[in-house]
Amino acid sequence: MKRIAVLTSGGDAPGMNAAIRAVVRTGVAQGWDVYGVRLGYVGLIAGEIFPLSARDVGGIMQQAGTVLRSARAPEFKQESGRRQALDVLERTGVDALVVIGGSGTQAGAAELSRMGYPVVGVASTIDNDIYGTEMSIGVDTALNIALEAIDRLKATASALQRAFLIEVMGRDCGYLALMAALAGGAEAVVIPEFETDPEALIDDLRAAYERGKAHSIVVVAEGARFDAERLVHYFQEHRDRIGFVVRATILGHVQRGGIPTAFDRVLASRLGAGAVGELAAGRAGVMMGLTRGEITGTPLEVVAASRKTLDPRLLELAKVLAT
Ligand code: F6P
Repeated sequence: MKRIAVLTSGGDAPGMNAAIRAVVRTGVAQGWDVYGVRLGYVGLIAGEIFPLSARDVGGIMQQAGTVLRSARAPEFKQESGRRQALDVLERTGVDALVVIGGSGTQAGAAELSRMGYPVVGVASTIDNDIYGTEMSIGVDTALNIALEAIDRLKATASALQRAFLIEVMGRDCGYLALMAALAGGAEAVVIPEFETDPEALIDDLRAAYERGKAHSIVVVAEGARFDAERLVHYFQEHRDRIGFVVRATILGHVQRGGIPTAFDRVLASRLGAGAVGELAAGRAGVMMGLTRGEITGTPLEVVAASRKTLDPRLLELAKVLAT
């Protein structure tokens, strides 16, 4: 192995920069040339590859986003796009690639690996929906941002005895919403994995109102069938039955822009170093993730073909603690 390249793809996640830094510095420590690819798979296809030194990645760990920039790359889903990328890698003499990103990115990496190219993935998405890792880079930071918003909204909700629907990101995964509800002491949580009846929510809110609660917080996952917008309309129509005045706040991309927490920086550093460690050992075709505290590699084809599930006991716990 002489030359490796690293890219970030898909939605950015706080901590990606720490992973880039780890790949570059551990790669340089192996005596390899390390290259960065601008704009993820889009930049790879376009040949946007440039050398990175250990010094080039100084001072980036505390920044959200990704210094390599990122992109969604529908063209990489086509075999023709991937062939173009392989041509670029061959032309530039890059022996192996480290791809930092979420489930779509890892699916792309699996395809590249299937075509015979040595690639190692690093699990990075705020959604925490990737099979093969208990935590992905960015989840902890995004969760803490949601939590801060819940704490703030609780204050204003209590002042005016209101109910707040707080919608958090997560695509079609309810992990962030469930954890934010648990850590934020929310009265209810609505996630895609379990069907929620808005009528049951109205009953819960009414009961909380009658118990004299000063506020009611409902955390809603963006991917739930009844998202915050639909729910707030529904609740406004049934306002007299609820008691509380209802407001909705959609956190959206704010969750991706936080200064990475210590957890995310450490996880990203370990995963990035783990990816280089795999390549140094002559292995590839895996995604680095966290399993029971250890950095592990799961075959990319398994990652791409499997679905991560949510532990229903956590939902039960959130419900019990909300009473
Ligand atoms: O996958 C990360 C994520 O932030 C999801 O939570 C969200 O649904 C999606 O990306 C938003 O995508 P975009 O940034 O392209 O609007």
